[in-house]
Amino acid sequence: MADKAVVERAEELRRQIEYHNYRYYVLDDPEIPDAEYDRLMRELEALEAAHPEIIIPNSPTQRVGAKPRDGFREVRHDMPMLSLNNCFSEEELRAFDRRVREGLGVESAVEYASEPKLDGLAISLVYEDGELVLGATRGDGYTGEDVTANVRTIDSIPLRLLGDGIPKRLDVRGEVVMPIAGFRALNEAARKKGEKEFANPRNAAAGSLRQLDPAVTARRPLQMYCYAIGRAEGVELAETHFGQLEQLRGWGLRVSREVRLVEGVDGCLDYYRRMGEKRDSLPFEIDGVVYKVNRIDWQERLGYVSRAPRWAIAHKFPAHEEMTQVLDVEFQVGRTGALTPVARLKPVFVGGVTVSNATLHNMDEVERKDVRIRDWVIVRRAGDVIPEIVSVVLSKRPPDARKVVLPKKCPVCGSAVVRIEGEAVARCTGGLYCPAQRREAIKHFASRKAMDIEGLGDKLVEQLIDRGLVEHVDDLYRLTVDDLVKLERMGPKSAQNLIDALEKSKQTTLARFIYALGIREVGEATARALAAHFRSLDRLREASIEELEAVPDIGPVVAKHIHTFFRQPHNLEVIDNLLEAGIRWEEPEAPEPEAQPLAGMTFVLTGALESMTREEAGEKLMALGARVSGSVSKKTTAVIVGDKPGSKLAKAEKLGVPVLDEQGLLALLKDPERGIGNKGDEADE
Ligand code: IVH
Repeated sequence: MADKAVVERAEELRRQIEYHNYRYYVLDDPEIPDAEYDRLMRELEALEAAHPEIIIPNSPTQRVGAKPRDGFREVRHDMPMLSLNNCFSEEELRAFDRRVREGLGVESAVEYASEPKLDGLAISLVYEDGELVLGATRGDGYTGEDVTANVRTIDSIPLRLLGDGIPKRLDVRGEVVMPIAGFRALNEAARKKGEKEFANPRNAAAGSLRQLDPAVTARRPLQMYCYAIGRAEGVELAETHFGQLEQLRGWGLRVSREVRLVEGVDGCLDYYRRMGEKRDSLPFEIDGVVYKVNRIDWQERLGYVSRAPRWAIAHKFPAHEEMTQVLDVEFQVGRTGALTPVARLKPVFVGGVTVSNATLHNMDEVERKDVRIRDWVIVRRAGDVIPEIVSVVLSKRPPDARKVVLPKKCPVCGSAVVRIEGEAVARCTGGLYCPAQRREAIKHFASRKAMDIEGLGDKLVEQLIDRGLVEHVDDLYRLTVDDLVKLERMGPKSAQNLIDALEKSKQTTLARFIYALGIREVGEATARALAAHFRSLDRLREASIEELEAVPDIGPVVAKHIHTFFRQPHNLEVIDNLLEAGIRWEEPEAPEPEAQPLAGMTFVLTGALESMTREEAGEKLMALGARVSGSVSKKTTAVIVGDKPGSKLAKAEKLGVPVLDEQGLLALLKDPERGIGNKGDEADE
């Protein structure tokens, strides 16, 4: 049997943890760092593990419990969970306010508590002597389902009420919601696993709360906001709704921070406008606002009609979701050549704007949602997010609905479209030739790590394209001073400077040139590996997929991209023109890996160095035969750490990869034969 001191310490820890939960989850204002909170939690866990007899069901360690054995039990609500009447316009709101004032026999403006109307699912929580004993869904308003085990996993729901004057019994009502960010992450994960996605945060919240396994609910980012007291015993309740919300807050329950007291219809409308403006920046979805007569005695006098109070009304925002028809599906070509299916819709007013296009992202998405041309679909536009098709209304599918087919040729340039197995995205292989890709391709070509054409920035590239002076990268080398002086903010001197920079860029390296071509997935490191391996552009151009895969670090996907690129006649034409314009490099020497002191070693750089930039350090290491990579793996020889290193340092430590500081790097560069100290010596053996 645990002694008194253990029981008391456990209780003290629980009280502290509950308090810090409240600060963190309810007030969003933590008082202690996470590490300190974790320490309290671990201490309590250890005590309870050593003395299982002291565990109480509402201990903060017990949020995730066992599954209910026979599904959810039905529970009858103490007080029915009612619904609200809606209004959609100022007139309807004025009519409501008129009915309220007539019912009360008052002429002056009525005070209303105004609240966001959260878009989740209604939940009733019952506390007895401050302990959470029940969580129930609304059900039909009279009988709901007992979801206590799931509700307990929601961190913003206290398992025990805080503070003084706790009611003997309290039935509190509120909305369980899933924040938009959490909803997106959940769907992203589902998409990756090929599982079904939730249509919207409300469905996700409902689906999460109705999981039979509370461990699943516990992993879902749910929150609860309380908005009303259903019934309270053994406590003096405040005389206004606003006052009662304050009481709930005092007991540690979460109440929206957006609740305001307003005067009359004008106050309501003002609140409606302000919340409307805020709507898209709130972390969770609201579908309107709710006005409630603030005085409780007035609420009682007004009473209810059928199942809704006469003293409250919901003022709805324009819907986020509407139904419309798909007229066609077209394909847009993005900057990397990605073909994006876009549904052309019968225009529909949704989320406050008229929508006539919705992205379908990629063919996987089209297939998963089984969207067909002429289908009726649910379109959703929430916040600044681009409109999307949520689902197809299968019951309305017309007999002539047509499947969407991926075009074999790019709709912009006619080049072949490829969809590599395992990739969701289909791409145009037109590369430098495809106008849709050209703009970005030219910017990339001119960039510092590619051809390094000084003075040819993004703005200038855009002007050159818009004026029709440059279509493909080879056109850059045909520009003249006369062409350039016609551009905005371009004097003869700047024009000459640019021509000089273009001339200078012609002397380059094979690696830079390969990188500049902008082949998919061919970054700097891959371009260098290709240059070192093939040592001539002709050999690279002719290489088979097998030969490409033989290059270190080149896998089947990248090999396929490279191979396809060099099979496109337009790409070859542009390359020939570039060579004709005078682009040249010295053929890299045959590799002599053994001769280079750092051959076979791979380094990762993170954080800021003092004596040089990370790039310079990388170049120096590579000159000694090392490879420089962007990510840490078990094969990494060492991670070189400067000031303010990123997650790469943590990863290195986790994998046991050696870490070098700047001094270590300098020593290595000065005397590379020494390796990286003891560990390096071992690696060399
Ligand atoms: S009060 C007697 N306040 O809207 C009044 N409801 O259509 C009971 N809701 O089932 C509801 N935010 O799920 C109230 N601030 C809020 C609300 C709210 C969302 C939901 C609730 C209710 C539905 C009524």
